[in-house]
Amino acid sequence: MWLGIIEAYRNFLPVTEKTPVVTLFEGNTPLVPARRLCEALSLPIDLYLKYEGMNPTGSFKDRGMTLAISKAKEANAQAVICASTGNTSASAAAFSARAGLSSYVLIPEGKIAMGKLAQAMIHGATVVQIKGNFDEALVLVKEITEKYPITLVNSINPYRLEGQKTAAFEICEGLVAPGVLAAPQSAFRPLGSLKLCAPDYHFLPVGNAGNITAYWRGYQEYHQSGKISTLPKMMGFQAAGAAPIVLGHRVEKPDTIATAIRIGNPASWKAAVSAALESQGRIDSVTDEEIVDAYQKIAALEGVFCEPSSAASVAGVIKSAKAGLFVGARSPRPVVVCTLTGHGLKDADFAVGKCKQPVTVKANIGDVLNVLGLGR
Ligand code: F0G
Repeated sequence: MWLGIIEAYRNFLPVTEKTPVVTLFEGNTPLVPARRLCEALSLPIDLYLKYEGMNPTGSFKDRGMTLAISKAKEANAQAVICASTGNTSASAAAFSARAGLSSYVLIPEGKIAMGKLAQAMIHGATVVQIKGNFDEALVLVKEITEKYPITLVNSINPYRLEGQKTAAFEICEGLVAPGVLAAPQSAFRPLGSLKLCAPDYHFLPVGNAGNITAYWRGYQEYHQSGKISTLPKMMGFQAAGAAPIVLGHRVEKPDTIATAIRIGNPASWKAAVSAALESQGRIDSVTDEEIVDAYQKIAALEGVFCEPSSAASVAGVIKSAKAGLFVGARSPRPVVVCTLTGHGLKDADFAVGKCKQPVTVKANIGDVLNVLGLGR
């Protein structure tokens, strides 16, 4: 039975037998081959989606939160606090509820998806909406934790990234090394070999820049321990209206439909730049239009529902492919993993707003058949 990321990766995490493990059995999320997406877009790659929306609270934040809350409990903390664009607050509230801790969350008023707000509220967090953005909320929670005995559980808490790096471990375990158990009938390699293997490229959305930092650490640790023999190029994508790292300066008023990554001054800025540089990857941006296009394609072609911000990873692949990144790639085709950071149900309103609205008819067979195009 899967017991969550702390039990699965204990040897790689800063825990002892004294650490009380607070878990919702997070992790072990699907690595979904995206064949139809590759075909539709003529992408000369083997693309996999690491579907982190399948974590207990619907986002990758649960990996870091199980560790941050377990360590807070070990240190006899009574309360935790975070600033959030939504997912961190949902996860912090859920794990705090489980641990019996109080939680306080600061969110930008009107700029978080309803599902995330609902989660923070139902799990009993004290939710404070500020008339400001995430960056301002983060400054406030830092100040509060300097003055009061409350544990900060944003990703500047080192345990958060330690937990999040485990997604990289799972990916290496899910991929099959070239030449091992290759399925001749498929352009794709089968999942789950005995020999671990890193992807050639790893694409993910960048907001506060913690996750790209954590993944790079995870890949490096598996490399150093001899579990994998290559490292991926780390490809981070910010939303164009909230792309401080790409622009090289803070963005005072970040603006994007991808509210989860609406951040103008990322906490892990330097570490994210290092991850991209050291891995020979890059940090780039995608427009809101590109994000929405990828969001709809992932859902329509693969049956995978992610939140808009998550689709920045796939939008990044599409943009990079158009710019020739995979041209002349070696055979077998490059293995590319995209992290889909959060579940689409977090922001159902956004999805509904992007679709053709359902038609309402009287409850009789003739009217229904007409709408289905089956009428005479
Ligand atoms: N995708 C989603 C769905 C997110 O919620 C976040 C961050 C990111 C991507 C970016 O990850 O910050 O590690 O670069 N959400 C934070 C929050 C900021 O408060 O929930 P990052």
